[in-house]
Amino acid sequence: MARILLGVSGGIAAYKALEFARLATLGGHGVRVLMSETASRFVGAASFEGIVGAPVLVSEFERDPMRGAFPGEEPPGHDPIGHLELAANCDAMLVAPATANTVAKLAAGAADSMLTTSFLACTAPRLLAPAMNDRMYADAATQANLATLRERGVEVIEPDEGRLASRGEYGRGRLPDPERLLARAEAALPAGERPWDGLRVLVTAGGTREPIDPVRFIGNRSSGRMGIALAAAAARRGAEVTLIAANVALPEPAGVRRIDVESAAQLAAAAEAEFPRTHLLLMAAAPADFRAATTATEKMARADGLELRLEPTEDILAALTATRAEGQTIVGFAAEHGGDGVDRAREKRQRKGADMIVLNDVSDPAIGFESSENAVTLIDAEGEVEVPIASKDAIAEAILDRSGQLRAKAGGPAG
Ligand SMILES: Cc1cc2nc3c(=O)[nH]c(=O)nc-3n(C[C@H](O)[C@H](O)[C@H](O)COP(=O)(O)O)c2cc1C
Repeated sequence: MARILLGVSGGIAAYKALEFARLATLGGHGVRVLMSETASRFVGAASFEGIVGAPVLVSEFERDPMRGAFPGEEPPGHDPIGHLELAANCDAMLVAPATANTVAKLAAGAADSMLTTSFLACTAPRLLAPAMNDRMYADAATQANLATLRERGVEVIEPDEGRLASRGEYGRGRLPDPERLLARAEAALPAGERPWDGLRVLVTAGGTREPIDPVRFIGNRSSGRMGIALAAAAARRGAEVTLIAANVALPEPAGVRRIDVESAAQLAAAAEAEFPRTHLLLMAAAPADFRAATTATEKMARADGLELRLEPTEDILAALTATRAEGQTIVGFAAEHGGDGVDRAREKRQRKGADMIVLNDVSDPAIGFESSENAVTLIDAEGEVEVPIASKDAIAEAILDRSGQLRAKAGGPAG
């Protein structure tokens, strides 16, 4: 796992950096923390130290008791210069939150603290997550400073738009969720250091269309957003990702191989062809359960009337689990309408032989199909875990975390 150097400057969102440190440490990374003087007025060094298991440094004149080593590593036999050693040893450096002041200093190349000197000396990938009031963020000085840093190869993680810390204010300036910060930091890590390097992931997304005649079809409301979020999250972890997209209008995430399909039969054929080389299958698509038994070759006229006879489509998930080899993990999805949905999803997992079922309650209009948010229940052989309402990106991370745990338990590589 990687060594992540976290710089924390003095803004309200500094409390979110604690959660970042916790998630990164839980994820197996070694984390060292550098704080600006001001940051310690917002959160305490003791909290970071307790979470990462290493001392926090503020001034470049402080002695580093770990002599530039990351948690889990042996310190060197000599006493190196602190601000050079941590910067040289890390695999990536993230400044989060980055205040307007710290952004300005870094753009100017100022080096007046442990955080700023280390940033200047760091040749590993450097990331910056600005967080501030929307007017401070929109100001030409801040934007010019960020543009300068981008030009120099620093990855700027755009702040989110939403409710700001100052009472009643709303705008762009919020620090993104720690899960997303971690995903971006992991994506920036060199190959070989990312947690899912070497893992091949197959994701299906979207909803199938079953033709009635050349212009009409039976479809469903799946937008493909959940599958896209899963593909993006797996790619950020370093996996080689193939996305089978059924009528998805959204672009595929960077680095993801895409196969477009329309009908359930095409989805089944593509999935069967890709499955043998897959380590982790995530079946987020909504294939139709029925198709028209006969399809008209020409557009049908209203005057002729329409009587449809439907026949069931192939059960793609069950067909794939029947051919599974050792080391393959299969995650299915179930859209259920409230009530005893958990029982039905539990039964579906067993009947289809999947390792896990992700249950969506489609009776709640605030989540699911076309929404950018979701809430799911993860059902596996050990029981259920509820993932409360969150962005589909955050839900994707939770699904991948649990899939990785299942793979680790089964002795599979990566995850
Ligand atoms: C209550 C309070 C909240 C603040 N929040 C932010 C913030 O979210 N973002 C920011 O850029 N500055 C914020 N500031 C201003 C910074 O703390 C100030 O610019 C400081 O000099 C930053 O120092 P540093 O960049 O060395 O950490 C805040 C100040 C106060 C008093």
